[in-house]
Amino acid sequence: VEKSKQHNPERDIVDKMRKASKNVVILYGSQTGTAEDFATRLSKDIQSQAVRPLVLDPELYDWQYLSRLRSDELVIFVLATAGEGEPTDNMEAWYKALVSDAESPDDSDVPEFCQADDNPPLDENMPLQGISYAMFGLGNNTYEQFNHHARVVDRRLLALGADRIGERGEGDDDIDIEEDFARWKDATLPLIRQHLGMSTLSDSGDESAPEPSWKVVEMDASQTWAKGELFSGAVTTYDSRHPFAAPVTAAVELTPAADRHLLHVEVDLAGSGMRHEAGDHIGVYPTNTDEEVDLLLAALGLLDKADAPIAVQATDPYAPQQQLFPVEATTYRAAFRHYLEITTPVPRSQIKSLVLPFARSEAARTFLRPLAEDKDVHAAVVTAGCMSLGRLINAVRDVEKQADVLGNGEEPFVLPVHAAIELCPRLQARLYSISSSGKVHPERPTITAVVLQYDAKTEQAVQAKMGARRCGVATNYLLGVLRYLRGDRIVDLEASNDNNDDNRLRTGHLLSQSAELHTVADLSSVSASRDAKNYLLQSLTLQPSPGSVSNKRALTMPVFIRKSTFRLPVDNATPVIMVGPGTGLAPMRAFVQERAQTARANPDQPMGTTLLFFGARTESKDYMYREELEKLFEDIQQVAPESQIITAFSRDQPQKIYVQHRLKENAELIYRTLLCEQQKLNGASRAHVYVCGDAKNMAKDVSRALAALIAEREDVSEDVASKWVSEMRKLSRYQEDVWS
Ligand code: FAD
Ligand code: 2AM
Repeated sequence: VEKSKQHNPERDIVDKMRKASKNVVILYGSQTGTAEDFATRLSKDIQSQAVRPLVLDPELYDWQYLSRLRSDELVIFVLATAGEGEPTDNMEAWYKALVSDAESPDDSDVPEFCQADDNPPLDENMPLQGISYAMFGLGNNTYEQFNHHARVVDRRLLALGADRIGERGEGDDDIDIEEDFARWKDATLPLIRQHLGMSTLSDSGDESAPEPSWKVVEMDASQTWAKGELFSGAVTTYDSRHPFAAPVTAAVELTPAADRHLLHVEVDLAGSGMRHEAGDHIGVYPTNTDEEVDLLLAALGLLDKADAPIAVQATDPYAPQQQLFPVEATTYRAAFRHYLEITTPVPRSQIKSLVLPFARSEAARTFLRPLAEDKDVHAAVVTAGCMSLGRLINAVRDVEKQADVLGNGEEPFVLPVHAAIELCPRLQARLYSISSSGKVHPERPTITAVVLQYDAKTEQAVQAKMGARRCGVATNYLLGVLRYLRGDRIVDLEASNDNNDDNRLRTGHLLSQSAELHTVADLSSVSASRDAKNYLLQSLTLQPSPGSVSNKRALTMPVFIRKSTFRLPVDNATPVIMVGPGTGLAPMRAFVQERAQTARANPDQPMGTTLLFFGARTESKDYMYREELEKLFEDIQQVAPESQIITAFSRDQPQKIYVQHRLKENAELIYRTLLCEQQKLNGASRAHVYVCGDAKNMAKDVSRALAALIAEREDVSEDVASKWVSEMRKLSRYQEDVWS
C-alpha cells in the first residue's frame, strides 16, 4: 500500500505509535465528543505495563498505514454514528477510502452519499491480513441507521482481511450507553490482554488510584505565557475548532408560558466570512453557570485559589496532546466554566476508576462501592438524582460527617483536582438548526431553543437531598444571555466581571468566550416590554446601528456554522411538505422565509404548494412566530394558493392531537401535493418532505403516518408504502433533521 504513495511519517499511525513506545492505538470517530471521551477512558482502563495505548484522531492520519501493524500490536476503533447513519466528520476520509464500491452489492443499506465511487478501488488482496482490531460503536436506536458507521467499517475491515478481537460492541445512547460500554469492555479487555500475551485476569477488584494523565501546574503570576489560539486574532477561517465570537443582537422569549422557556437568539456574523443556508446548523460553545462552577470548586476545596493561573499538561511526554485546553494558561474557575462538562451525572465506570480510589474512610467506600458496582443503584441514585461531580463529592462528605469520620481518626475524602479534570469530559458545542434564512438575513442566523431543566426523579435521591435540578448547559447559557440583555440578572452576571482585560487574557479567561463579561448598549429597548409578542416583534426588527455600540463592547457568543444536507429543492416549482412540531419549526421557519421572499420577488414564476405542519402544546401559549409565519404565508399564497399552515395543538382538547393526525386528516391535500404531482411531473418537480424535531417518537410516527396515508390512497400494503418512503429518503425527497 505504501509503495503507491510517498511515505508521510506525519500521517503514519504506526510510526507515531512506535516512537511513543506504544503497542495499542485507539482511534475515535467522534462528532460531539462522547466517542473521544470513551476512547480516552478506555485507554486508561486497559493501560498497564504491557498494554500501552495511544489515543489518536483518524483525521490526522491515513488509513493505509494500518497495514504496517504487527501481530503483537492492536488497533481499537471507537466509532460514533452521526446523523442519518453517517460517519463522523473526523472519520469521513477513512470511511470514503475504506467503504468502496466493492462492498455495495450486499450493502444496500449504505446511504448513497457514502458510496465512495470517486475513490480509487482498494487493493483487493487483503491489505489488512494479519492485523487485529477491536470495535465499539456508539449510536442511538431512535435513528433509522443504528450504529451504521461502526457496522460498515467493521464489515469492511473483516473483508480486507483483518481479525476482530471479540464481538463488535454497540452502545445505545437511547437506553444506557455507559452500561453497553462497560459490558463490552468486560468481555473484550481480557481478550485484548490475551492477544498481547498478558494474563487474562480481570482487574475488577482493583480499587487503587490510576496514574494521572494530566498534571495541574499552578503558575507564578509573574510568569508569561502564550495566549490561547481559540480566539486569537490570527484566525481567519472560523470553524468548530476556531469559533467566531459573534455579537448577540437579539434574545427574547417566544412564548409567555410560565413553566418553560422558548428562546429566540440572534447573532451577528458580520466580518466572520461565515455563510449559512436554510437547513444549516449553528454550533454554540456554552459556558457553565457560576452556580455549578462554584459548587464544584467548593467541593474540590479550590474556591480560595479559583482565579490563580494554572496550566494543565499531559504527564506522558509522548501523548499527542500536551495541553488539555486550547490555552496554555488558564485558571481553575475558567477551566471548569469554559472547558469541562461538569453537570453530567457521573458515569458508573468513572466512579469506579476515578472517585472510589480516593475514598479513604470506610464510610465513603461503603457509600461509593454500590454506586460503582451496581448498575441499578447507580441509575437510581446518580442518574435519576442528577448527581454531578460536585454533588457526588458533597454526598460523600455528608456520609462521612454522619459517620463522624474525623472523630474516628480516619482521613476524609478529598478528590484531587487532576482526577476531577480527568473525569469531566470536555465541554462540547451544541448544535442548533438555524431558524432564519441565509438568503433573507445573510449575517443574522437565529436559534430557536427550548430551555432544558428537569428535577431529580427518585424518591431516594430527593429525600437524601443528594440530587437536584439539572439544567441543560447550553440552553441555560442562552437563557442567561437573554436575561442579561433583558436586564434581569445584571447584578449576578456582573459579579464575575473582571475589568482587567490583560489579566483575563493572560489567564486564558478569554474575553470573547465569556458572554457575561460584556455589556450591551442598545438592546435595552427589548426590556421595555415584558410582553412576549412585543419582544418578538422588537427582536425581528431590531437592527443595532454600528455607531450606537461604539462606546461599549457587544455581548458575544462563540459560534460556528455546520453545513447540512437538509435543503429546500433547487426548483421553486417543487412542492414542499414541512413537518416541524416544537423547536422542529426552526429550519422550517428559514424555509418559509426563503419561499416568501422568492414569491415576493418573482410573482410570475411558478411555485410549488408549500405546506407547514406545526405542532405545539397549546395555541395560546406555544404558537411561536405566529404573526410572522401567517404573514409570510400570505406572500406565498399569492403564487401558490394551496399553501397553508396546519396546526396540531396537543393539549387544547382532552385527547392528544399531533402533527401526524393532521397529516391523516389532510390526506387528500397531501395526496394532491405529493403523489399526484409525482405522477404528473418529473425530475425536480416532485414534492419534497421535511421532518424536523424529536427523533425518539415524532419522526418515526410521522414517517409511519405518511406510509399509512400512501398505503390507503394507493391501495398497497403499509410495508410496500414504507419502502416507497425509504426510496424517497434515498432520493433526498424525504429529509430529516432530528435529534434526541
Ligand atoms: P445538556 O446539558 O446537553 O443536557 C442534555 C442531556 O440531558 C441529554 O443528552 C440527556 O442525557 C439529558 N436529559 C435531557 N432531558 C432529560 C430528562 N427529562 N430526564 C433525564 N435526562 C434528561 N435544540 C433546540 O432546542 N432547537 C434546535 O433547533 C435544535 N437543533 C438541533 C440540531 C441538531 C443537528 C442536533 C444534534 C441537536 C439540536 N438541538 C436543538 C438539541 C441541542 O443541540 C441540545 O442538545 C439541547 O439544546 C440541549 O442542550 P443543553 O446543553 O441545554 O443540555
Ligand atoms: P405533548 O407534549 O402534549 O405530548 C411539541 O413538543 C409538540 O409535539 C407538543 O405538542 C407535543 O405534545 C408533541 N408531541 C409529543 N410526542 C409526539 C409524537 N410522538 N409525535 C408528534 N408530536 C408529538
